[in-house]
Amino acid sequence: MKANTEFIPFARPSIGIEEEAAVIEVLRSGWLTTGKAARAFEEEFASFVGAKRALAVNSATSGLHLALEALGVGPGFKVATSPYTFTSSAAVARHLGAEVAFCDVAKDDYNIDPELLDDLLSGDASIKAVVPVHVGGLPCRMAEILETCRRHGASVVEDAAHAFPLRLKEGAAGTLGDAGVYSFYATKTITTGEGGMIVARDEAVLRRMETMRLHGFDRAAWDRYTSKAASWRYDVVDAGYKYNLPDLLAAVGREQLKKADLFREQRREISALYLGAFGGHPALENPPSHPSHAWHLFSLRIRPEVVKIGRDEFVERLQAAGIGVSVHFIPLHLMSYWSRRYSLSPSDFPRALDKFSRTISLPIWQGMTRAQAERVAATVLEIAEGARA
Ligand SMILES: Cc1ncc(COP(=O)(O)O)c(C=O)c1O
Repeated sequence: MKANTEFIPFARPSIGIEEEAAVIEVLRSGWLTTGKAARAFEEEFASFVGAKRALAVNSATSGLHLALEALGVGPGFKVATSPYTFTSSAAVARHLGAEVAFCDVAKDDYNIDPELLDDLLSGDASIKAVVPVHVGGLPCRMAEILETCRRHGASVVEDAAHAFPLRLKEGAAGTLGDAGVYSFYATKTITTGEGGMIVARDEAVLRRMETMRLHGFDRAAWDRYTSKAASWRYDVVDAGYKYNLPDLLAAVGREQLKKADLFREQRREISALYLGAFGGHPALENPPSHPSHAWHLFSLRIRPEVVKIGRDEFVERLQAAGIGVSVHFIPLHLMSYWSRRYSLSPSDFPRALDKFSRTISLPIWQGMTRAQAERVAATVLEIAEGARA
């Protein structure tokens, strides 16, 4: 029998007739941009994560930018994050004229190391904010991070782009720091194609983000055009951005939100299958687990001392077998911009470098069938066996 090589994508959104109907309703409503659906999405999302208020934005990148701006990051300050992330976790600091201070990840996982962070903050009083990233959906060690940041007077903006839904006993990921940002990018755990959400603890911070989200207007367009007392007059109180989420996308988000727990359960089942298949295999190292893991990513590591092919060839063999994979992350200090700006060399963050050199993210998405996950696992095992030194 011919081997099944039908392509299994690395990621695929799960969109149903509910999302289609919701978009059609908005299309027919006469109001396409930010309005009723975006407001409802914000309220429903806030209630889901247990935040008093949430602000819908057009990406997590915009959300991170707004949050750092509202918390006072600007020229003369630094923002600390780990190099083991997507570039926008750090780039938003540069957009505000601030610099970035990188901190290596923990020994055993892909998240920022709280002890190294404490050292970094102790030696640099200009660090105004820290952006911990819950990489792949594994929660950061927030209690330690929050304590360290409090002691050093630094704000905490959680990058929860991978961490929805992720509920801990202290609260949902994203609601634990001063602000938290979620992503609804096409590959994320719920999606609006492009989109994001911000939550924050302090009402003044929320108000500042709300103003800066839409041109620095003192009032949203929705209020100006639609209320009975609609008025054309508005003021511009600052040079704001254009970061609002249109109703067309918010309508998709509302439907996705209803399925968030079901999606998470589907991904958890795939993770359980992978963890079981690879656990104890001498060539493979499973990602760290956690009861609340959001399982946005399943980032497996290979052991170079056991497997005689490198990660790149492992990836090529998986792709040749029809399996879409990715690598999370190419650390930022290996990227030309970041290495040039801060004169960084690969060995400056040895843990990030080591993890990057051995990691492969496998397909894990809502709607993926058990048969597909089994085929991914079997193919990984076959390659690992065939390549043992
Ligand atoms: C950790 C992390 N933060 C932020 C972002 C930015 O998200 P968005 O595409 O919604 O701006 C991403 C995107 O992949 C990400 O992986």
